[in-house]
Order: sequence, then structure tokens, then C-alpha cells
Amino acid sequence: MKQEYRLISSTPKPFVKWAGGKRQLLPVIANHIPQRFERYFEPFLGGGAVFFNLVLQEKDTKWMLSDLNSDLILSYVTIRDRVDELISTLEAHAVNYFKNPSSYYYKIRESNPKGQIEKVSRLVFLNKTCFNGLYRVNSKGKFNVPLGKYVNPNIVNKENLLSVSKTLQSKDISIKCQDFEAALKNTSSGDFVYLDPPYQPVSDTANFTSYTNGNFGYDDQKRLFAKFKSLDRKGVKILLSNSKSEKIIDLFHEFADGIVEINANRFINSVSQRRTGHTELLIKNY
Ligand SMILES: C[S@@+](CC[C@H](N)C(=O)[O-])C[C@H]1O[C@@H](n2cnc3c(N)ncnc32)[C@H](O)[C@@H]1O
Repeated sequence: MKQEYRLISSTPKPFVKWAGGKRQLLPVIANHIPQRFERYFEPFLGGGAVFFNLVLQEKDTKWMLSDLNSDLILSYVTIRDRVDELISTLEAHAVNYFKNPSSYYYKIRESNPKGQIEKVSRLVFLNKTCFNGLYRVNSKGKFNVPLGKYVNPNIVNKENLLSVSKTLQSKDISIKCQDFEAALKNTSSGDFVYLDPPYQPVSDTANFTSYTNGNFGYDDQKRLFAKFKSLDRKGVKILLSNSKSEKIIDLFHEFADGIVEINANRFINSVSQRRTGHTELLIKNY
């Protein structure tokens, strides 16, 4: 088993598909990453697409990763510390799933395991087999997504899990479950912060927060803006993703020179015809 670690050659990628994941926007975001920075902060980590894209390119950087979702952070920590046990339980899930996908999926969806490995294994399993592959909970915190339509879902991506595990074992990476304000307390001049919060709805009727597990309302966007300003005053470089909504444009008007409109595809709607391009914002202070 040990030898496998030495054979890992693939680059680590997100191990779950996450609402608002940035994988498709990486080429655009990469153009806006500063050339040099001391430490990297990503306090709305989600699937970590931006972090995984940077981590092997930037040497001598410290990586401060966090998210408020405790199940998600438990998954990162488990992959880092106990990846072999996780892979074994995922392999067992895969065997049972392929015997009878529907009944096994709903059985696991209804289960509520208490052990660390079983909890994380359930999260990854549901993420790989559910409709649209997204983690989403209802107002009671219950995962409520129906079975997906995959013929052959890749439930155990062993190579990637091992690669993620090896990467996260670096002493230069810190992973914490916390609110963004706490995560950004100890930043200083020379650091770089990438902010990818749940987006402000583009209209009062669009309810984006329903699939992001968390009620990140307009008050939180204002709290984020206040933090953006205080980091700016400290000399921290900040890049923020958000929707092209009037409220965000108003809130950040003093950083208007740093607002870039980008084209994005949002793969959230269950009706594929509605997966059309739309514009969103990158806001930076450099
Ligand atoms: C848009 S997603 C980030 C997606 C990520 N960039 C990716 O590529 O997958 C927003 C994340 O913010 C987290 N979140 C919500 N409220 C938060 C808060 N107050 N502090 C920190 N994280 C929060 C959610 O759990 C979610 O993972």
C-alpha cells in the first residue's frame, strides 16, 4: 500500500463537485492572480478549484484554507489523514451501488452515520451519484437531492484522492472550519486573498442561496465588503467573485476600476437548455 503514494503523478483536483465551483472559470481567473504573494487565503473554499490549480505552481507559499461547512472541512481533513480507510469504504459503496443503484442511493441518503470515515464517505458517494452532482441540503440541513442519471459514476477516483491527500499533507497548508472574518484576521501586506462567497441573487426572485447551504444574505455581503476594505487598507491583494447584481455593483462602487465582467456558464439548472452563458464579476484591488 505504502508504495502507491510514491507512484502518484496526477495533479490534484477537486474531489467533489460543488455549487458555484470555479473549474470552468479557471482560465479566466488565472489571468487575474497576482504574480507574487507571501500567503494565499481562500476562506470560501468549497471544492477548492482555484487552490488546486495554484498549489503545484507556487512554491514557498503558505496556504490558509477554510470554509464554514463542517462536513466539507471534515472531508478535507479525512482525505489528508485517513485516505486509505476512506478509499476502502468508498469501494464498498461502489460495489453495493452497482448492484441496485436506486435502492442503495436512497438508503445511504437516508442514513446518518456518526463515524468520521462513514460521514465523509457518504458525502463523497452522494456527491458522485446524485442528480447534477451537487451537495445541497434543505432548510433542515438534510441532503435532499434525487438520484442522478449516471450510467457509470466514478465513485472512487483513487488516483485523485491519493494525490489530494499527498498535497494536503504539506506542512504549509492549514485547513480550518470557520467564518470568513475569523479566517482573515491575521492577514498582512503581501498576502493574497481569493474570495468566492455564495453569490448575491441577481434579482429579488432569484433564490441562489437555496442550494448553497447557508443563509449568506445581503448583510453578509456587507460584512464581506467591510472586510474587503480593511484588507485593502492593510495592503493585502484581494480578488472577489460575485454575481453581476446591482447590489454588489453599488456596494463595491469605490473599487469600480477593479471590476471585470466575465462570461460564465452556470451548470445548476436541471433543465439543460437553461444552462446558458451569463455575466458575472471579478472585483480586485490591484
Ligand atoms: C461559491 S462556494 C465556493 C466554491 C469554490 N470556489 C469552488 O470552486 O468549489 C461558497 C462557499 O462558501 C461557504 N460559506 C458560506 N457562508 C460562509 C461563511 N460565512 N464563511 C465562510 N464560508 C462560508 C459555503 O460553505 C461554500 O462552500
